[in-house]
Amino acid sequence: MIKIAPSILSADFARLGDQVALVEKAGADILHIDVMDGHFVPNITIGPLVVKALRPHSKLRFDVHLMIEHPERYIDEFAKAGADHITVHLEATPHLHRTIQQIKGLGLTAGVSLNPATPLDGIKYILDELDMVLIMSVNPGFGGQKFIPAVLPKIEVLHRHLDQMQSSCEIEVDGGINPEIAPVVAKAGATILVAGAAVFACPDPAQAIQELRAACNK
Ligand code: DX5
Ligand code: ZN
Repeated sequence: MIKIAPSILSADFARLGDQVALVEKAGADILHIDVMDGHFVPNITIGPLVVKALRPHSKLRFDVHLMIEHPERYIDEFAKAGADHITVHLEATPHLHRTIQQIKGLGLTAGVSLNPATPLDGIKYILDELDMVLIMSVNPGFGGQKFIPAVLPKIEVLHRHLDQMQSSCEIEVDGGINPEIAPVVAKAGATILVAGAAVFACPDPAQAIQELRAACNK
């Protein structure tokens, strides 16, 4: 069963607690939290302070997507703030293996994200250490962008490879997900779909989550 992870990037930040409660009640499986530093990506969002503020208001797993340079500097802080899972970008950390061990050493699950143009090669020797691979299907930095279909073969290849390994590593796909593209991405092998605009820019976020799920189960 596909998991739906609403991204709070497109939520109303003036009432973030209520927005998180809304998607939790609507059956979201995971809460996706986008952290941007204005260096790795051309946008700045939130830090550990906001994760800490949200933590007592939700029982959802907090899936923290770090789009920041040298994420190793902030992993401890996000763990303390209440993250359950941390994903770092392959392109943003020189010692990926060490960074993954750092996340797992804190008792969290760990993921690596690849930008649309980044091949799978860079995670080949670390795949059996990972709980998740996040395939970016837009260039990271902003919500509401258009899905890049060229990433579909990358999802398929990764899915086949994990299958051969009999791995339980999740494949999360992030960017441009809507009810039309969701079933295509699920068929390619995604196990978690991130959805920002498709959920929070919708007048009824609860219905939007159900529509995404229904589209994949058709
Ligand atoms: C983009 C972020 C995404 C973003 C997805 O850099 O990593 O999580 O919120 O938003 P949509 O679903 O609107 O493309
Ligand atoms: Zn994200």
